[in-house]
Amino acid sequence: MAVVAIAGGQWGDEGKGRVIDLLAEKAKVVVRFSGGDNAGHTVINPYGEFRLHLVPSGIFYPRVTCIIGNGVAINPAVLLKEIGDLQKHTVDTSHLVISDRAHLIMPYHTLLDGLEEERRSKGALGTTRRGIGPVFADKVARLGIRAGDLLNKDMFLSRLNSTLEYKNAILTKIYQVPPLSVEEIYEQYRHYGERLTPFIQETSSVIHEALIKGELILLEGAQGALLDPDFGTYPYVTSSSPLVGAGAIGTGIGPMEINRAVGVFKAYITRVGGGPMPTELKDEVGELIREKAHEYGATTGRPRRCGWFDAVAGRFSVQVNGFSDIALTHLDIYDGFPSIKICTAYKFDDRVLNSFPSNVATLEKCQPICEELAGWQESISGIRDFAKLPAQARNYIARLEELLSCPISLVSVGPEREQMIQVRPVL
Ligand code: IMO
Ligand code: MG
Repeated sequence: MAVVAIAGGQWGDEGKGRVIDLLAEKAKVVVRFSGGDNAGHTVINPYGEFRLHLVPSGIFYPRVTCIIGNGVAINPAVLLKEIGDLQKHTVDTSHLVISDRAHLIMPYHTLLDGLEEERRSKGALGTTRRGIGPVFADKVARLGIRAGDLLNKDMFLSRLNSTLEYKNAILTKIYQVPPLSVEEIYEQYRHYGERLTPFIQETSSVIHEALIKGELILLEGAQGALLDPDFGTYPYVTSSSPLVGAGAIGTGIGPMEINRAVGVFKAYITRVGGGPMPTELKDEVGELIREKAHEYGATTGRPRRCGWFDAVAGRFSVQVNGFSDIALTHLDIYDGFPSIKICTAYKFDDRVLNSFPSNVATLEKCQPICEELAGWQESISGIRDFAKLPAQARNYIARLEELLSCPISLVSVGPEREQMIQVRPVL
């Protein structure tokens, strides 16, 4: 079959989890390739409603090997809770595998994430405070502790000792908070290690075996392109790459192995946390979208900022990811809207910008230039056939395809697994 990457096209929360939950039926392997438990992937299926933070969204199919890839940062406490919650809902988790190369979120990472946010004060990034910035900083600074280290107590203790000495100096001298205890962390992580050991192994070989057999492999992204540390709205970004390209590095396959790349976009746009958002609607329309779509963070519960579809940012996202297809989600939220706007360019001072600026100072001053399309008045949530969608909905989809130069192959008309119109085959 093929390797298909599924990545976020906007500022996250586009519905990646549900797309994976749908496509995984035919897959042999699903691998999460970046991020950590800052992600919140909502999946509604016959087992119930889930908000997955670390476990790949293919977990509901017992024959699918679900891998937490080397590119992910794992908070063991969050992962163990998630495994426990799934088991409570009778979901089999014995086919979950954790890369021994995945970095571990340690107590000082979450603590420092919060302290750094407070230090930024008005300039706070609005992080999820899950320790993501600090853990990925430690990874590249070569200070990290990895899942594989849990398998070797001496190795773990020696890495912890040297890192904690440095972290405690920062905690006590810069932030004036009490130091953390090596013994306590060691005990806590020894306990996690005992419970996670059966899941931890080298995983790129598992993926390669499936590749050789020609099985379907799904690469599950987290966050979205506009939160990418290189191409996103820096510094209002996350700390690992959510792009399709990271799907190769975060799993251990070559980029040429990826056959298709599905970009998940909402029919509108949302953002949670700080940073510019040109199409944000701070009025009753934005409020209507938020309430209708329950736009509150799956990880932090924060209200998400809502706005019209931004095709300038969308086009850029298609380019930096190399999407072959788009999955457009939440189209039903527009049911009953008299008209719908799409941002097609930005006004910056007296100029018209057609491309996404690389710096936030410019983006902050950008005013959206919108075109207005007619809405539809009926409910589309029961429709499964593209041809049966109201003409205005088909027109909206066609205009987005044109603006993004990418085919829209999947369209969701409701949150349930089967509420997805397959316009053309993705697999
Ligand atoms: P999923 O996978 C939406 C945002 C945070 C913040 C910024 C940096 O569910 O789409 P971090 O904790 O990563 O250092 O925060 O990134 N953010 C997300 N927003 N969806 C996500 O994940 C996000 N993960 C991080 O709100 O603005
Ligand atoms: Mg989410």
